[in-house]
Amino acid sequence: MKVDVLLGLQWGDEGKGKVVDVLTPHYDIVARFQGGPNAGHTLEFEGKHYVLRSIPSGIFQHGQVNVIGNGVVLDPILFMEEATELEKSGVELKKILKISRKAHLIMPTHRRLDAANERLKGESKIGTTGKGIGPTYTDKVSRNGLRVGDIECDFEHKYHVAKQRHITLLNALGGDTNVDELEKQWMQGIDYLKQFDIIDSEFFINHQLAEGKSVLCEGAQGSMLDIDFGSYPFVTSSNTVCAGACAGLGVAPAKIGEVYGIFKAYCTRVGAGPFPTELFDATGAEIRRIGHEFGAVTGRERRCGWIDLVALRYTIMLNGVTQLIMMKSDVLDGFDTIKACDAYEVEGRITRDFPFSIEHGIKPVYTELPGWKTDMTQISCEEQFPKAFSDYIAFLEQKLGVPITIVSVGPDREQTIMRKRK
Ligand code: GDP
Ligand code: IMO
Ligand code: MG
Repeated sequence: MKVDVLLGLQWGDEGKGKVVDVLTPHYDIVARFQGGPNAGHTLEFEGKHYVLRSIPSGIFQHGQVNVIGNGVVLDPILFMEEATELEKSGVELKKILKISRKAHLIMPTHRRLDAANERLKGESKIGTTGKGIGPTYTDKVSRNGLRVGDIECDFEHKYHVAKQRHITLLNALGGDTNVDELEKQWMQGIDYLKQFDIIDSEFFINHQLAEGKSVLCEGAQGSMLDIDFGSYPFVTSSNTVCAGACAGLGVAPAKIGEVYGIFKAYCTRVGAGPFPTELFDATGAEIRRIGHEFGAVTGRERRCGWIDLVALRYTIMLNGVTQLIMMKSDVLDGFDTIKACDAYEVEGRITRDFPFSIEHGIKPVYTELPGWKTDMTQISCEEQFPKAFSDYIAFLEQKLGVPITIVSVGPDREQTIMRKRK
């Protein structure tokens, strides 16, 4: 069997959690391959609302195994918080969740280093989620990290060595070195983690594939936040693109099957960094209000703007997207006109290709389309689409070159329309 990958094509928060939950019944295994508790994946069903951070979004359907892969960075404190809440609400997490031995651990001092790095950057800070993501991946790459598997052998010593190194760094950076309280919680989190099935997830996944089982990989963040291809340095610290699924789970590239690329019918970004189609006017505020565009993790206001097809074509290319999923269509229901940026004007020249830098001098060139002025939340099949909405979809498919196979018209699991493949 092949591994299908579902990932965000914009700057995150596209609605990945919702769609992973919807698609889970078609799979045997759901796996996260990168990122950590910087993610906030929202699911709504039967009047309930959950935000998942480190745990995959396949835990609420029945019978699927969920895996936290080696490419993920895990904070034992936040994991314990998230998992105990889920257990309280009846999810038998210890039976269905497996965690890779090779996943790296976020330490309390990583959080402090994240804060210290941001403070030193001053005006040019990234606006991270403050969860210690950057410093943990930095330690991984500089070969100083602690992994889940380390818990099994001489852990106290390894922890102490890593912590002392961080304290030296924090002193040099003028950061906060007091982690006493956090450390207590962290050690409790480590004990809690030991109750889970800690596995060599690369073997598990490959053996399951060989036995004919199917796997859905759940991306976190979005391709425009990718460490290599995103709007660097205003990015996260992992490969959020499809290739990240190979490295983050130990799956060979030839095993990748469908690549689902998720995007909102408009665009948002949280944190600092360039955003060519950002709206600073009443329209941007209206999209934020209707779309409830506030961070699922940090509660921060999300910046809002029109859809950016230049950026989408770029991320579709990077990921080899085979199917597109359009989210939050209903948020644009009331607009008379909808704009789509199909090209950038850079120093008087029109380009449809994504440039090296989008920090300065980018002017979006918009195509205007008529709005559909229909309550999309009440629509349950493709045949009920208003003409202007079908035209918007046809326009996007023509500009992006990939079919839109799923359309989301509300936050609930049920508000999902599967389109017929032509
Ligand atoms: P993720 O990080 O990609 O999983 O996305 P988030 O959960 O951070 O943000 C998506 C938000 O949009 C959540 O609050 C979802 O409940 C909500 N949502 C998802 N799909 C739709 C939709 O089609 N319409 C509306 N109005 N809200 C949606
Ligand atoms: P999901 O999975 C939106 C952003 C942060 C910041 C930058 C770096 O819910 O889509 P980090 O803490 O990763 O070092 O922050 O990346 N960011 C996200 N934005 N959705 C996310 O995740 C994000 N995860 C990180 O706001 O700009
Ligand atoms: Mg999110």
